[in-house]
This record gives sequence, C-alpha cells and structure tokens, in this order.
Amino acid sequence: MQLGFSSARFPGAGVHVVGAVEDGGLLPAAKRLDKAVGGAITRALGPTGFKGKPKQILEILAPAGIAASRILVVGLGKGASFDASVAETIAATVLGRLIGAADGQVTFELDIPRGCTLEAAALAAHLAFGAKLRSYAFDGYRTKREGDAALKLKKVTVLTSAMAAAKAAWADLDAVAAGVFLARDLVNEPANVLSPVEFARRAVALKKFGLKVEVLGEAQMKKLGMGALLGVGQGSKNESQLVVLRWEGARRKTQAPLAFVGKGLCFDSGGLSLKSGGGMMGMKGDMGGAAAVTGALLTLALRAAPCNAVGVIALAENMPDGGAQRPDDVVKTLSGQTVEVLNTDAEGRLVLADALWYAQNRFKPKYMVDLATLTGAIMVALGEEYAGLFSNDDKLAGLLLDAGKKCGEAMWRMPLGPAYDKLLKSRIADMKNIGGRFAGSIAAAQFLQRFVGGTAWAHLDIAGVAWQDGEKDPLIPSWATGWGVRLLDRLAADMYEG
Ligand code: BES
Ligand code: MN
Ligand code: ZN
Repeated sequence: MQLGFSSARFPGAGVHVVGAVEDGGLLPAAKRLDKAVGGAITRALGPTGFKGKPKQILEILAPAGIAASRILVVGLGKGASFDASVAETIAATVLGRLIGAADGQVTFELDIPRGCTLEAAALAAHLAFGAKLRSYAFDGYRTKREGDAALKLKKVTVLTSAMAAAKAAWADLDAVAAGVFLARDLVNEPANVLSPVEFARRAVALKKFGLKVEVLGEAQMKKLGMGALLGVGQGSKNESQLVVLRWEGARRKTQAPLAFVGKGLCFDSGGLSLKSGGGMMGMKGDMGGAAAVTGALLTLALRAAPCNAVGVIALAENMPDGGAQRPDDVVKTLSGQTVEVLNTDAEGRLVLADALWYAQNRFKPKYMVDLATLTGAIMVALGEEYAGLFSNDDKLAGLLLDAGKKCGEAMWRMPLGPAYDKLLKSRIADMKNIGGRFAGSIAAAQFLQRFVGGTAWAHLDIAGVAWQDGEKDPLIPSWATGWGVRLLDRLAADMYEG
C-alpha cells in the first residue's frame, strides 16, 4: 500500500473521504463535493440518520458527476474534541470498512473543524499514520488468500494545504509505524520459527539502520554469572541469548542513556511446572516485552532521535526436559543474590533479574524501564485495557503515564513497598521466585526491584495488552498489538525533544 500527500483539491478516481462534525454539519470539502454531485450528500443525510458522530460513516456509491467510485462522509465528532488520536482512529476505520473493496485507492480530504487545535500538517500525518497502522497484516503463512478478507487498496492519499510540514511530520510517524510493525511481526511469529537465536539474528539485522547490536550466547552468560537466565533456558534445545541494542543519537556522546529491558520468552510452556493446554496457547507471544524494546530502538534509529538509548532483551525458551530446571532448585543471579525456584513457570522474573542487573551495572542509565508479559494476575486486576505500572520513582512514573495518555497506550500505577517483601522469603536462599495466593503481580514487581540497584526504574506488566483475541481497536488489526513501541518512543521524545 502506497501512502502519500497531495495538495490537489478535487477528487480523482477511487474512494473520496470528506468530513462532517456533530456541531456544524458538513465541513467545507464535503459541501463542495455535495455541490459537485448535485446535492446527493445532503439528500442522504436525513434518511440515514448520520449525525457526524466519531467513526459514523455515510456512504454514497457510484456518485454521478465525478470520477470517484464512492464518497464516504466520516463523522469527526465535536470539533473541540477532534484531535490526532481521533484522526488516526477515523482513518483506520475507513480502511477497515474498505476491506475486500476493489476501488483501488482512497483519498482523504478532511478540513480542520472549528474549535480543533490540530494543525493541518499534524492532521494529515496522523490520518496517514492511522491508515498505516490499520494496513498491517501477518499473512505470510497463508498459501491461499481469503480474497475478500484482504485489504486490496493500492494507494492512500491525504490532501493537505501544508505539504512540506505534513511530509516532515509523517517521516517521524512512519518510523514509529515501522517499529510497531516489527514488534507485531516478532510477537505473531510462531516459536518454531522464532527461537532465541532467530530473534537475535533479526536484531542483528537492524545494524543497517544505525543501531549497535551485540549478542551474548550461553557461554558468555555463564562466564558473567547469569545463573537465573540460564536456568530458565536449560531445558530447551534452543540456546538462550542476551541481546544489547544501542542507539547513540545524543549530541553529547556520554549522556546517560534510557535503558529499556524486555522479557523475551520465545515460548513459555511453564517448564516442569507445566502449564495446561489452554494456558499454553499464545505463549509464543511471551516475548512481547522484548519485541516492544526492539521495535522502539528501531523507531529511534529510523527517525534519528536526539537521545541515547539501550535495549537489553533476555531471550530464552522455557521447556520441560531431562535437563530442565526443577522446582526447588536454587540459582545464583548475576547480582550475587540467590533465588529458590519454587515454580518454574515464574520464569520471566528470573531472566529479567539478570538482564536488569546487567543493564544498570553496565550502562548506568538515567532511567530504566522493563516491559514483560509477566503475570496472569495483572489481567485479573486490570483486564486488557491498562498495563500495570510499578515504579520506584514518581517522576519516571509521571512521565510514563503522560506519554501513555498521548499515544493511547494506557497504564495504571500499582504499588510496591517493603510490606510485600515477606511474600518472597525463602527457607534456604535469599528469596523465592513466587509469592503466595494474593498480589501476584506486585510480588513479581517487588522481586524485580531487587535487581535494579539504585536506578530510577519502572516495570510494565504487559500481559494483558501485548496481544488480543478479536479486534478491539481499528488501529490494531492483528493478534499482536505492538504495545509499548509508541510509548517508549513518546517517552524519549518528551524527555529530549520537548
Ligand atoms: N508468561 C506468563 C504470564 C502470562 C500469563 C502472560 C497469561 C500472558 C498471559 C508468566 O511467565 C507466568 O507463567 N506467570 C505465572 C506466575 C506464577 C507461577 C507465580 C502466572 O501468572 O500464573
Ligand atoms: Mn511462565
Ligand atoms: Zn512467561
């Protein structure tokens, strides 16, 4: 699908999209078009009950007098509440509506409604962004196309009076979309294809975009003393990997970086504490944190963000096997602390323990943020609407909550505190890897906190948002959501480009 901007005015062939608001009716472009088609739009308003509510669409097929194959009048809602995120949703909704349609191309001609503070360039760029995010598909494994279910559009054009500025704004958003698509691809990819080694290979391939990428194998991790990470992967035929991605875009080379750490379980069977059949489904996506970190680093590189950032992803496969880690085993972490592994299915915190310690010890980051599909309990608490946010630093927590609001990736802050430490008391080691019956997500976060040194840190439990059944949001037409890429990019932008 080709995406572009044009300053032309009058509709050519294909679908022509114009706008209307709840508090003012047809916008200027829609009025002009209405004239050109002899008032067909106005005539259709009454019987269809179209009010201009957000996402409402009025469709006029084969209009007489113009070249367009159809007209879509889309509702923008009230002018004052129309913003970038509504624009994205509208563009995505229009594309979703055109699935299977053979019109070939679509042109958006939306005016800025009264009361709206969006600039023309931003409107155009965010319309393109919404269309782009909706165009994602993971269908490389289909040998037969389900003809009607596919997006056949060849070309999307956004008409704008601010061409140059729109193209500049789009360049950044295009980079964000590329990061989101990479994260979605990685999460959608089945585990018989995406092993830790294959994931690492795909990370190394990002060098061509200006990232520095290092891969540590099991021998190197053993030398360093990453007993917790290695214990998780020891039952798998596939070698565990620790990948470090670096983007050095700050003017001052020595500026302390942002560190993003990702849980990368290419498959989580539970290990010897085996999951049930149903509970195991979807566990190819247990590397959603690592995917988001990788996607975010790609985005920063593609748009040459003026900051330093490192991504550390802990890649392993949690499998039962004669050599697998047992419940009751004790492992020694890179930090020196020991952990009694009472449940091999609480493996994410084990790989993160070593990755977090490594990241803060080596890079001395300004902030460290980890993303992990860590606990089923976070879905019990928050459902699929919010990710859980845990932090030892109110400033960082505030920055993340703000960034999340702006980009549509919402978090809800959860508590940490010494009162939860008793959950982690082990009979024979420094701690155990599970708590009791209650506060499962907090116990996990409290565990992670022991491996961040004094670093200002936040943990995002993304188990509820990394993938979805069905489609809740027109911007996310896939099982894998790519959650976290926009957030991390926004955080970096807010901190260094504000
Ligand atoms: N990867 C899972 C968490 C998960 C569950 C993510 C469902 C997405 C959907 C994690 O490794 C896990 O198994 N956690 C256990 C922890 C428990 C054993 C303390 C859980 O949540 O049941
Ligand atoms: Mn698990
Ligand atoms: Zn897991």
